[in-house]
Amino acid sequence: MRSRIVGTGSYLPEKVLTNRDLESMVDTTDEWIVARTGIRERHIAADGQATSDLALLASRQALAAAGLRPGDIDLIVLATSTPDMVFPSSACLLQKKLGIRHGAAFDVQAVCSGFVYALATADQFIRSGMHKRALVVGAEVFSRILDWKDRGTCVLFGDGAGAVVLEASAEPGILSAHLHADGAYADILNTPGHVCAGKVLGDPTLKMDGGAVFKLAVRVLEECAREAVEANGLKLSDIDWFVAHQANVRIITHTAKKLGIAPEKCVVTVDRHANTSAASIPLALDVAARDGRIKPGDLVLMEGVGGGFTWGSVLVRW
Ligand code: ACO
Repeated sequence: MRSRIVGTGSYLPEKVLTNRDLESMVDTTDEWIVARTGIRERHIAADGQATSDLALLASRQALAAAGLRPGDIDLIVLATSTPDMVFPSSACLLQKKLGIRHGAAFDVQAVCSGFVYALATADQFIRSGMHKRALVVGAEVFSRILDWKDRGTCVLFGDGAGAVVLEASAEPGILSAHLHADGAYADILNTPGHVCAGKVLGDPTLKMDGGAVFKLAVRVLEECAREAVEANGLKLSDIDWFVAHQANVRIITHTAKKLGIAPEKCVVTVDRHANTSAASIPLALDVAARDGRIKPGDLVLMEGVGGGFTWGSVLVRW
């Protein structure tokens, strides 16, 4: 038994915040942001719009694309680092909003690698025969954990959600998944605040050593792309679409260059979405599936990297 993606969906909040808008909020320029990151604009969730609300709209689209109803789903795995509440999980809140009352639902927390971790998890649950149809979602409201006075971080992130429906199939589908983590890098990217005795203790906004993150991301994305193709007896030149975590266009192009992957094979949405953490890969995947770039039979390499540090790949025959 293997698993196959049978539908994709995404959702971006209505409000668009451009680099020009940011110029009036912090000491920055559109030129600086575009040159260093490739980002031009990002979407920001409305007050009261929670992660599970974004996830719901992306999930409905993915279900419609798969020609399925919510009741057909027996597993929800939702990747997020910005859940609606401490508990229950945003996956359970999404399940409620979809009107599903059976199967399993839980969150995965691997920051910007979250979607790759969630997809790998759902793939294993389907391969084992435990579940038949999974909704795998990446959804984030990173705008809520940013220090909007810190120009070094607030210009980099946005809100959004992406979803796929994963179904049991005799044919893959998902060819392989490789996950990695090294907690020794916890200090270079984190949001250290936590809830204790009714108060938030520690700083609840995102902290980052941008240079260290950049170097680590390029190194591990290169390593795990080689690992994925070698494990499948394939070559890097066989990859039709490289869908990497959308943090920074320079991370994507540096990695692709080291791997010999042509720029036109890289799916890039970071210019319009910024870094939406766990939502970035399914958002990019949905854009490229809907605009007709990704076609049946194509080899798609997804790669995540993020806080933890965590990283990993999922290689898919579309
Ligand atoms: N506008 C204008 N100037 C800025 C801004 C800004 N928004 N932010 C920082 N600067 C200034 C700095 O203060 C510094 O000024 P100084 O020289 O007077 O001290 C100068 O620009 C250079 O700063 P650096 O941090 O050295 O700039 P760098 O070229 O490294 O770019 C960046 C910073 C874009 C953050 C880069 O390090 C990067 O992309 N790192 C990866 C981070 C990332 O993508 N994180 C996402 C989360 S992790 C993940 O998803 C994997």
